[in-house]
Amino acid sequence: HARKPLVVGNWKMNGLKASASEFGRMVEGYGAGLRHRVQLVVCPPVTLLSTFAVIALGSRVGIGAQDCHPGTHGAHTGDISAEMIADTGAAFVIVGHSERRIAHRESDADARGKVKAVHHAGLIAILCVGETAEERKAGLALQVIDGQLEGSLPEGLTGDDLVVAYEPVWAIGTGVTPSLSDIAEMHAHIRLRLVERFGEEGGRIHILYGGSVKPSNASDILAISDVNGALVGGASLKAADFLGIASAY
Ligand code: G3H
Repeated sequence: HARKPLVVGNWKMNGLKASASEFGRMVEGYGAGLRHRVQLVVCPPVTLLSTFAVIALGSRVGIGAQDCHPGTHGAHTGDISAEMIADTGAAFVIVGHSERRIAHRESDADARGKVKAVHHAGLIAILCVGETAEERKAGLALQVIDGQLEGSLPEGLTGDDLVVAYEPVWAIGTGVTPSLSDIAEMHAHIRLRLVERFGEEGGRIHILYGGSVKPSNASDILAISDVNGALVGGASLKAADFLGIASAY
């Protein structure tokens, strides 16, 4: 794998102005020891994007948003475009997180439109895929991920604009993770599909694992081949935990 591993924190709907100091500790800790080993990205709520972008200036810590609208501008009350996100200094946008697929009924087609918008704004999409517990029990996990990948990747996208995050829905915020061999199987499968789709470039796309990653399980999970980093929810809110996970590299 040619690129540095990538550890992304998804703060979800957490964080106020006062959280800037916690983020500042992440930036500091990253500069002190991790900068050469791993790429770090934090995706705060959109209200904190500009503040965090300023704090991160010169540190090489990346900033990202958690969602965007597929359009560029217009009468979409409450929505945020990818261009607006880019305007804050952010470089990444999470797309198709299961919490949006479930709570906002977002489909693969919705995700595809958003990935396209992110690409056009010059940002990198972190596309989330993942099966439910029922789908895994029914033996459909690989098939479900195939469908999500096929449905969510727009024409014209290059592998350089894309990160894929495998997040089994049943592992998110539950403290439960798949077995290491199940993670390995899925990541190898996703790699195969990305190489089919993007050729050599597909071999370089970061495939992140997400779902109950914490400092205590990070080194086992991040050592799996074709796991090129992590998408971290709960444990990304505290600098000690988040840097602890990144220190697995
Ligand atoms: O985007 C992050 C994931 O949903 C994982 O969340 O680390 O709290 O399980 P979690």
